[in-house]
Amino acid sequence: MTQRMIEITSPVFITENQIPAEGGLAALFGNDRPLALEIGCGIGDFIVQLARQKPEINFLAIDIYNKGCDKTCKKIEAEGLQNVRVMRIEARYLLAHYIAKESLEAIYINCPDPWPKKRHRSRRLVGREFMQTALYYLRPGGNFFFSTDFDDYGEQVAEIFPTVEGYDNSLPTPYVHSLCDYPISKYMRRFLDLGQPIYYVHYRKQADFAVDESILPPLDKGFRIRWDSAGNE
Ligand SMILES: C[S@@+](CC[C@H](N)C(=O)[O-])C[C@H]1O[C@@H](n2cnc3c(N)ncnc32)[C@H](O)[C@@H]1O
Repeated sequence: MTQRMIEITSPVFITENQIPAEGGLAALFGNDRPLALEIGCGIGDFIVQLARQKPEINFLAIDIYNKGCDKTCKKIEAEGLQNVRVMRIEARYLLAHYIAKESLEAIYINCPDPWPKKRHRSRRLVGREFMQTALYYLRPGGNFFFSTDFDDYGEQVAEIFPTVEGYDNSLPTPYVHSLCDYPISKYMRRFLDLGQPIYYVHYRKQADFAVDESILPPLDKGFRIRWDSAGNE
């Protein structure tokens, strides 16, 4: 489906060709604070709260949804946040091409598309392969945060995580419903308002876990989400 494209002119919006050849994404911030990634930022409700909560961290918020990226940029500018940049890019493509080994402080994924039909489950972003991929990009001791409103997705992720070598659970149980100071995204708010629980999962990469390229699943040949200069996919 072709999305109606909005040209995003915000200074916090970064296109692929604006990524500095020297220093990569980290160089966009003009400081050497740790870099964390939010995948599927939607309209930015979560990242603005998180970036306000953690000024000591630089955040890259990505989505493939053009209008969502635009709204996220506007919120970041309205809040005057200096520690967030936004890209319209696919998560696995970004990781494979622009994120250095063991360079991420954290990965945040909230309410990813649940693909509720059984025959579509393999399309879910977060599964064993993605958890392994994340190990390669997280720094030793780095954090993987996941939340979902979808019971079956929450249970599936909570079940797989302990079977992936290299992580420790940061919570007393495989998932919790209590969010404490974890910011609430648009989708989380929608389901909380309906009285439905959020499944919250937080794992940490073991500090002494050694990774190399062999942990990375191959990207499908020709894999990327491409768009032309008008922004059409
Ligand atoms: C259900 S929405 C949730 C948005 C937001 N995280 C929230 O909780 O309100 C899922 C978002 O993930 C984005 N998305 C899905 N797959 C993605 C991928 N592979 N890479 C980047 N973004 C993705 C979608 O475009 C959509 O905006």
